[in-house]
Order: sequence, then C-alpha cells, then structure tokens
Amino acid sequence: MKIVLLPGDGIGPEVTAEARKVLERVGSLFGHAFEFDTQPIGGNAIDDFGDPLPPQTLEACRSADAVLLGAVGGPKWDDPNAKTRPEAGLLRIRKELGLFANLRPIQTFDFLVDSSPLRREIVAGTDIMFVRELTGGIYFGESGLKQEGDQEIAWSTMTYSTYEIERVVRIAAEAARGRRKKLTMVDKANVLEASRLWRRVSARVMKEEFPDIAYDVVLVDAMAMHLISRPTAFDVVVTENLFGDILTDEGSMLPGSMGMLPSASIGSDGPGLFEPIHGSAPDIAGKGIANPLATILAAAMMLRYSLKLEAEAKAIETAVDKVLAAGHRTGDIARSGETPLGTTAMGQLVVEALSKE
Ligand code: IPM
Ligand code: MN
Repeated sequence: MKIVLLPGDGIGPEVTAEARKVLERVGSLFGHAFEFDTQPIGGNAIDDFGDPLPPQTLEACRSADAVLLGAVGGPKWDDPNAKTRPEAGLLRIRKELGLFANLRPIQTFDFLVDSSPLRREIVAGTDIMFVRELTGGIYFGESGLKQEGDQEIAWSTMTYSTYEIERVVRIAAEAARGRRKKLTMVDKANVLEASRLWRRVSARVMKEEFPDIAYDVVLVDAMAMHLISRPTAFDVVVTENLFGDILTDEGSMLPGSMGMLPSASIGSDGPGLFEPIHGSAPDIAGKGIANPLATILAAAMMLRYSLKLEAEAKAIETAVDKVLAAGHRTGDIARSGETPLGTTAMGQLVVEALSKE
C-alpha cells in the first residue's frame, strides 16, 4: 500500500515523523508493507518550486492509496501581496482529489476532560462527528475585486448545486447509521438562498433514503451557542464549507486541545487525505514539543477509511488511550505539576503500546 506523506511546514514534519513510526510498527505487527513517499506541499514548496502544490506532489497523491498531511503555512508566507500562499496548495489538493467530505470527530477523552476550558459537567461524554462540505461554497464560488471611484469592492459567493449537497448529506447520514442514528444539518436558511437549497435537498434525501435516522436542522448562529452549552446533544452534524470550518475550530476546544484532533477528507473514490486539524504552530516549530497524537490519530483514520484496515485503526486508537491513561502528556495537555513529554517521546510511547489485540 502506497502512502504519500506531505509533512508541510512548521510542526508538520515533526508530527508526521511520529505518525510514520506508528504506521511502520502497525505494518510489522499486522504484516502489511506500507510504502512511504514524502512530497513537498505548502510554504516550503513555494520556496523550492514556486508552487504550494507542485505537479510532482499532485501526481504522487493521485497514484497513492492514501495521503497523510502534517500542516501548511507560517508567518514567512503571510504577505497579503504574495502571488500565492501555502493554503492555496491545501485548497487545490482537496479540489483536485475530489475530497468533498471532511470528517472531524470531536470526542472528549475521559482523562483530559479537566483540560477543557469548559466545565466537566458540560463537556464530559461529548462525541460528535462533524461532516464539513469541503470542495464547494464560498471557498470555491465566484469571487472578484473591482475599483469603483475611490472604493474597492470585493465579493465572494456561496454557491451550491443539488448534487454537491446530496453527496455530502449521504456520507453524513451513513456515518449516523453506524453511530447513534441522529443527524443535525446546520445552515443559515433564514438569510441565505444557498442555505435554503441545503434545507430542501437534505430534507428530501433524509426522508427518501434515511427514514431510520432522526434528523433536525439548526441555524449556524444558534449552533455556535449549542455547541458549547449542550455538546452532548449532538451525534453527526453536517454543514457547508465555511460554517464547518468555523464550528469545528470552536468544537476543538471541547476536548481541551487541538493537539488531539484528527480529520479525514474523502471523496467518492481515489485516495483520502488525512491530517490533524491543528495548524503548523510556527511558535513551537522545531522545539520538539508538539503533540503528535492528532496526526497519529489521523493515521488511524487513514487505515480505517482509505485502507479499510479497521483492526489496525483500532489498535492505534487503543494504544493512544493506553498512553494517556498511564498519565503521559505533551505540554498542550499537561496540567500544572505534570511533566510534559516531547514529540518523539510521545510517539515512541504509542509505538510501544501498540499490540495486535
Ligand atoms: C482547515 C483550515 C483551512 C480551511 C485553511 C488552512 C485553508 O483552516 O482545514 O480548517 O480553511 O479549510
Ligand atoms: Mn479551519
């Protein structure tokens, strides 16, 4: 099985290196030959090739079974007048590989509930699967900039078609079937035409194809509130691209640290793209203190969704649980009095905790 690694920028290379070690150990335990191919993406690719997604990277990804990404971006490439940005590489790879559904599980880990900024009684037991539409909406709609007199006018449009809504709602509803059978669709149908289309299309798909799933709709502003006041009320949540971007960052605070949260971007065929939801964290890059667990858990999602290796995915998740249960913490999740571990030490503990049952 061919896995393309895209370490990217900042802490990306540090955390992907740990995920690779974990995958290599899983390979030897379960008898799989994973072949790794490391390719450039993001800011370093702009420096070396003038392109945040060089053609060779895209080609390697297309012919891979799955892609594991670290993170892209950093202050070095933040000039608003620059020709291109690291983030453009990420948006293009999502579009080119047809990765229209972004799965972001948000679970609180029992041992970590007290590192959440929210009270234990609110967050304990949270287990939400966010399904964010990833290749449409305002991220990819028509946009422009013009001059009128002394005014600059800019516009970005949220555009969706029936087909784009149907396919991501189906993915979300299927996910709900394997979970607590509840789906919440988030929109802004009181204002946006695009949201009213979402509302009609998803209601029809749910009625015709998923009558067994409890379905409701919530406006995005209200959802921002509910997410922190009663997070345990939600099972699967589906929403358009920009709302999903914002709500999943908000949701990432429920478990306490972004350093624990993986994400999977999938399409109808071809390789999926798996990554931590945190960014490149330039402030701690190169210090060896980043939490590698989100990327390690992203590798587990990769085994589950792209390589169809459920037992192997579970083995990684169980190993992570064991390491946390034993009290090991990186700086982002350590509380006062706990000695934080570095990136490689944490990765090594997960490798050692892996077993076949
Ligand atoms: C994310 C990120 C990206 C997004 C950026 C880096 C383009 O915030 O994956 O959520 O907005 O989709
Ligand atoms: Mn985001």
